[in-house]
Amino acid sequence: MRISIVGSGYVGLVAGACLAKLGSEVTLIDTDSERVEVVNNGLSPIHEDGLNEILGQVHVRATTDYRQIVDADMIFLCVGTPIDEDGSMSLEHIIRATEQIVTAMEGGKGYHVIVVKSTVIPGTTEGVIIPILERTGRKAGRDFGVCMSPEFLREGKAVYDFMNPMRLIVGEFDKRSGDALLDLYRNFNMPVLRTNLRTAEMIKVASNAFLTMKVSFINEIGNICKQLSIDTYEVAKGMAFDDRIGSKFLDAGIGFGGSCLPKDLRALIVKARQMGYEPGILEEILHSNEKQALKPLQLLKKHISLEGARIGLLGLAFKPETDDVRDSRAIWIVQALLQEGAVVKAYDPLAVANFKKLFPQIDYVAVEEVLNCDAILIITEWEEFKDLDYTGKIVIDGRRIPKAREARIYEGACW
Ligand code: UGA
Repeated sequence: MRISIVGSGYVGLVAGACLAKLGSEVTLIDTDSERVEVVNNGLSPIHEDGLNEILGQVHVRATTDYRQIVDADMIFLCVGTPIDEDGSMSLEHIIRATEQIVTAMEGGKGYHVIVVKSTVIPGTTEGVIIPILERTGRKAGRDFGVCMSPEFLREGKAVYDFMNPMRLIVGEFDKRSGDALLDLYRNFNMPVLRTNLRTAEMIKVASNAFLTMKVSFINEIGNICKQLSIDTYEVAKGMAFDDRIGSKFLDAGIGFGGSCLPKDLRALIVKARQMGYEPGILEEILHSNEKQALKPLQLLKKHISLEGARIGLLGLAFKPETDDVRDSRAIWIVQALLQEGAVVKAYDPLAVANFKKLFPQIDYVAVEEVLNCDAILIITEWEEFKDLDYTGKIVIDGRRIPKAREARIYEGACW
């Protein structure tokens, strides 16, 4: 099958590379010419486990020219939907990309299936994307097909997740499009749900919202446990024997970050409010996640005064195995530390370059120098932090690193 993928962020790149590996002819379209060049050199412009290897093995053509979609059987829309100032999802990129697709389609007469993969608020494909696609008089379901099929990839594990999907959600405008998408996934073994477009959109945002609820829930339990001298992790372990609860996504700490969970949650809240509904549970998840980010500072202040103190940060990425710092807990913590007059020294194995763009004024140092600071905050649970020598130090642990308990003064975020 010939597939064009619009947007080479981590979803587009991973889908493109994996589909090429599985035998499709893939063209990536992106407005960023530097990215395009990197992909054409057989390399990955982002850090994603296994992606460089695949891009080195298969031929994925990248271009800035939308006209290349004319020959595609299927066009995947994978552009980002970042947050707007009011918390709603910005449709700017997806609208522009759809308009470019329309212009490019005018040149050809073939039937394409357009598959929306970007995370969007329910109603977007029907209310925004299809009307743009139909502007030139072509009709969805007759002249072209439309599906909405969300991705559930985790950053850092996206190649694995793509190749081992837990589910396939096929939101279909028309049966012919849904059949075509199912055919593309025929060699995968996973449960499939065929549904309408807006339900598919909601499955994605509801799944992400549910994950944030698990994290905020266990953090809340953790904050209570800490006061009662109970180990939250043991509580979660005991809860997990009930398979209605499960063991995943119950690691207490300093909350969730990243480019997806906080953004999608905010956008769902804004959408609900716009419709006149107050989504109390969702609002509280967000609020408690914001408070949780600053938990290490409250704990630290019990032991030292921050003014002029050298505070070492272990980890800047929003989670291990990625260089992504979007909505990382480190952002909240550094901001607050600087306000309190602390001297911040930070180390991260991958994310320093990205963090420097946000905070050029702090010191980026080797891990040894972080360990020599007046106090250490563990922000990201990188593997290499598990073997450091913490003896004699003051450590506030946001991510449960067992060896850090050897510190002279040790505080877990919520255990
Ligand atoms: C998340 C979802 O997990 C994916 O299923 C989804 O496809 C993706 O968003 C998306 O919408 O594109 P990701 O952003 O890669 O994936 O991050 P996660 O691995 O889910 O972690 C998110 C945050 O939650 C991290 O900051 C992590 O430290 C935190 N977390 C996670 C916890 O604090 N405790 C946990 O038990 C799990």
